[in-house]
Amino acid sequence: MILPLDDNAITRAADLICAGQLVAVPTETVYGLAADATSGEAVARIYAAKGRPSFNPLIVHVASLAQAETLAELSPVARRLAEIFWPGPLTMVLPLREGSPVSPLVTAGLTTLALRIPAHLAMQALIAASGRPLAAPSANASGRISATRAEHVAVSLGDRVPLILDAGQTRHGLESTIVAVDADRLRLLRPGPIDADRLSGIAGLPTMAGGDGKIEAPGQLSSHYAPGKPLRLNATEARIGEWLIGFGAIAGDDSLSPSGDLIEAAARLFETLHRADATDKAAIAIAPIPDDGLGLAINDRLRRAAAPR
Ligand code: TXA
Ligand code: MG
Repeated sequence: MILPLDDNAITRAADLICAGQLVAVPTETVYGLAADATSGEAVARIYAAKGRPSFNPLIVHVASLAQAETLAELSPVARRLAEIFWPGPLTMVLPLREGSPVSPLVTAGLTTLALRIPAHLAMQALIAASGRPLAAPSANASGRISATRAEHVAVSLGDRVPLILDAGQTRHGLESTIVAVDADRLRLLRPGPIDADRLSGIAGLPTMAGGDGKIEAPGQLSSHYAPGKPLRLNATEARIGEWLIGFGAIAGDDSLSPSGDLIEAAARLFETLHRADATDKAAIAIAPIPDDGLGLAINDRLRRAAAPR
């Protein structure tokens, strides 16, 4: 069932959450597949619905800094980043607080927790109405394109989710930036709408790339965000049987941004891939995207979408 976002929809969604069920809910980045983070059974339903490998832990969404502090330990640097960037598209990986009520299934056994306060009324209202911290990965089948519209969720997860809250297209269209906050540095686990330089500036710490070789974020899975068809990168023209996604001067069959605007391209990325997947062409090609600013996050997603599976 898809319901437009209003008070009635939030009440029904909160009832489902409190009963241990799943609800797909928009955030400012992508749609999330939410469940009560304190219930192992509810969290298990997320993994089942997504078909997600269980080593891939989930982000927990909270409504306030005070609620965050009940789940994880925030160092002074983490608190400072939270004050500046929350609510917003920043996820911090922090030490799990002793006695934290979060189900171990959320962290897949790690002693750290990925946390954020989302800047979207729907997710904030659902956390408040249910009174629970919400575990929510992106609302798509594991490894596939993230959902930026309610219809994408319906296509990807169908009847595996009892309720989808619909608030139209999401603002950023790309998942949150993920950083692990260590004592002497930040580690960028997934590039996103907030860039690493800004984080370093505020934290007064250097930002290193990636984890340490072991899987910490989806970023580390080489095939992810994959459309159902092969995807060729840096294409300046379509080959036979290809649907070309353009950018800037390369027009294509569709375009991420005719004017070459990276913010527009990020917001449209997953939607454009969904559309390309639905055409009768056998393959997808995409024009080069400049590798700076938000282009770094876009190219990160595209490389994984194009990787051999
Ligand atoms: O924008 C977003 O972040 C969206 C919306 C719904 O909030 N959520 C999202 O969740 O993208 P998901 O599950 O698709 O990606 C979260 C990634 C996981 O793939 C996981 O690898 C990483 O965050 N992660 C979660 N907990 C972690 C931890 N304790 N340490 C390192 N990485 C972690
Ligand atoms: Mg995801």
